[in-house]
Amino acid sequence: MRHARSYLLAGFAAFAVGAVAFAQTTVAPLEEAEPVETLPLESVDALAELAKTKPGNAQNGATLAGTCAACHGLDGKSTIPEIYPNIGGQSEAYLARQLALFKSGERANAIMQPFASMLSAQDMRDVGAHFATQAKSAGIADDTLVAEGRYEGMKFYEIGQQLFRQGDFERGIPACMACHGPSGGGNPGPAYPLVGGQQSWYTARRLQEYRAGTTTERDTGMFDIMASIASQLTDEEIGALSSYMQGLHQRPDAATLAAIAAMPAAAPAPAAEAAPADAAAEGTAPAEGTDAVEGTEGTEGAAPAPAEDATAPATDVQQAP
Ligand code: HEC
Ligand code: HEC
Repeated sequence: MRHARSYLLAGFAAFAVGAVAFAQTTVAPLEEAEPVETLPLESVDALAELAKTKPGNAQNGATLAGTCAACHGLDGKSTIPEIYPNIGGQSEAYLARQLALFKSGERANAIMQPFASMLSAQDMRDVGAHFATQAKSAGIADDTLVAEGRYEGMKFYEIGQQLFRQGDFERGIPACMACHGPSGGGNPGPAYPLVGGQQSWYTARRLQEYRAGTTTERDTGMFDIMASIASQLTDEEIGALSSYMQGLHQRPDAATLAAIAAMPAAAPAPAAEAAPADAAAEGTAPAEGTDAVEGTEGTEGAAPAPAEDATAPATDVQQAP
């Protein structure tokens, strides 16, 4: 935090230069007119600036995105998945808001702050619009059997799946998909972020941060939603949720399915028989949701989707407004 704030302090130094020079060249004590600690947040009200912008222009954003490419990829797919999150397919609203929070220091991150600080509020929406139009990522969930504890006998990702789809009524945990969508696509309107396909280490860390409840955000409304939910989660559940979400894949749309059907039957689907028994028992049959988790077996998503799934519009609500 201290480290991150120093960038803002550097910005503030422009105002403070006269006073500092004075302090250095005289023994007379300076009057403490303003407490320095509170100044960074007041001096960059990036969220307020954001409120005055117009919808992002993805073309301008594509130019700006050159700066981000080294880490997030020009298409929003992390260049080093172990270190940087994916941002492709994330909504413009969420991206712009997080950039504003990085810039003001309210979301403390020493790596992101200088990059966010280079952007005007309109730049944030433009670069947000660029990444919002990129494809989402998708990964693979961990299907190791859980050996002990309350979830003994379940596959690891199934713990997450259960919470994601149903929550836990007794503990007051809402279903994650109520806000983040059945395939984790998010809802750009209220700025509920895309969470599907994200690297699990990153998601786990975010959930731990919400659970720890520490934030410097002035407007904590959004943060508090997740803080109260995450406060109920155990480490095991955070790990399983993160793994499940990394494995979330979008169901192919009707056109894609038709194209697949029209392909020459060179490679028959390898394991159509693998899912029925236990998947149905857990209510994870592909017909039920609009999403598919690709476990390391990779069978669920390979099963042909029933007709109504194929014609249903993709659950993707990620279009830029
Ligand atoms: C030097 C590498 C680097 C560069 C360049 C970079 N980022 Fe990041 N970015 C990161 C890291 C690391 C994080 C994770 C921050 C954290 O741990 O909270 C991050 C996080 C983010 C997030 C938050 C994602 C989320 O899901 O909440 C956004 C949005 C973002 N970056 C956008 C950008 C944009 C836009 C640019 C270009 C203007 C950019 N970044 C340039 C490394 C980088
Ligand atoms: C009532 C709506 C709601 C529910 C239910 C909900 N979330 Fe969220 N989630 C949000 C909002 C709002 C944010 C953005 C918070 C912020 O701006 O810091 C968010 C952010 C997140 C993020 C951070 C994403 C990123 O890119 O940094 C993760 C991960 C997440 N939620 C996971 C979950 C999980 C797991 C559950 C279920 C246990 C869940 N959420 C339930 C509204 C919700």
